[in-house]
Amino acid sequence: MRAQALSAGGGGALEDIMSITPIGRPFDGSGHKVTTASLREQKLRHEPITCLTAYDYASARLVDEAGIDMVLVGDSLAQTMLGYENTLSVTMDEMLHHVKAVRRGVKNALLVADMPYGSYQIDSKTAVSNAARFVKEGGAEVVKIEGGEKRADLIRQIIDAEIPVAGHIGLTPQSVNVMGGYKVQGKSLAGIEQLMRDAVALDRAGVACLYVEGVPREVAAMITAEVSAPTIGIGAGPECDGQVLVFHDILNLTFGPPAKFVRRYGDAAALITNAVQAFRADVRSRQYPADEESYHLPKETGAGLDAVLSRKRAMRR
Ligand code: KIV
Repeated sequence: MRAQALSAGGGGALEDIMSITPIGRPFDGSGHKVTTASLREQKLRHEPITCLTAYDYASARLVDEAGIDMVLVGDSLAQTMLGYENTLSVTMDEMLHHVKAVRRGVKNALLVADMPYGSYQIDSKTAVSNAARFVKEGGAEVVKIEGGEKRADLIRQIIDAEIPVAGHIGLTPQSVNVMGGYKVQGKSLAGIEQLMRDAVALDRAGVACLYVEGVPREVAAMITAEVSAPTIGIGAGPECDGQVLVFHDILNLTFGPPAKFVRRYGDAAALITNAVQAFRADVRSRQYPADEESYHLPKETGAGLDAVLSRKRAMRR
């Protein structure tokens, strides 16, 4: 008789489960743990994959608890969290600091960490060792690397070190100086050919998923149909297997006009400004804190204190 997979508290034989590590299930047993394998199943089922960036514990918890499939600690935190001009300045240590905070807030979603500029371009040994830091120290489940076919060998080496890799092609912000700005890619026939070569090379190298940024929807659709890895689009049209947006973009926390592909789902800037201004006004008008927001002495201590104070007053007269 074929033994059943061990059910929660069931005590059956471990016939179908090869490890007691609950891959495919969150450690607290609730919800559905997203894995690289479940992402591929979603692609096969044509079930759209959702991904948002998060950079700290609170936003990570909110995103995860809302049921988003993938949380990306993007190097976009260089601008959104740290106020840098572009993504080129952010360091491994800065990225790791945020990945660790997000790890503590994410239970079900697949956690992807962006490898920052300079952490994988120099040599492959350093790249694999930096990727391993994201897994070992940061708790990331996947690392993301920008670039097309020229990254295929490196991606194989990182995967050989048991680290799943997400590719990122099209508009790759770490190449801003080479691209001469943040320009939509793949608009010419030669550009389309290059993008297709990039996508196929990374797919063959074994990427867990492929972020496709800033390309015409027709091109993203061709890539999505061609590769077995799920494509996660940003500014790449609706035919991708999934969509990613930047947390700060959907909440109006970027202090500037949004890109064409951004849809704003809330106005956190207005919410925060109103709350901060109301606090300021309450403090200045002495309406905060009220008596109910203050601690009080126990009755006996209050009575004792009154007695001491009136004795002192009497002595001063
Ligand atoms: O850094 C980031 O947020 C990203 C996404 C835009 C894909 O790479």
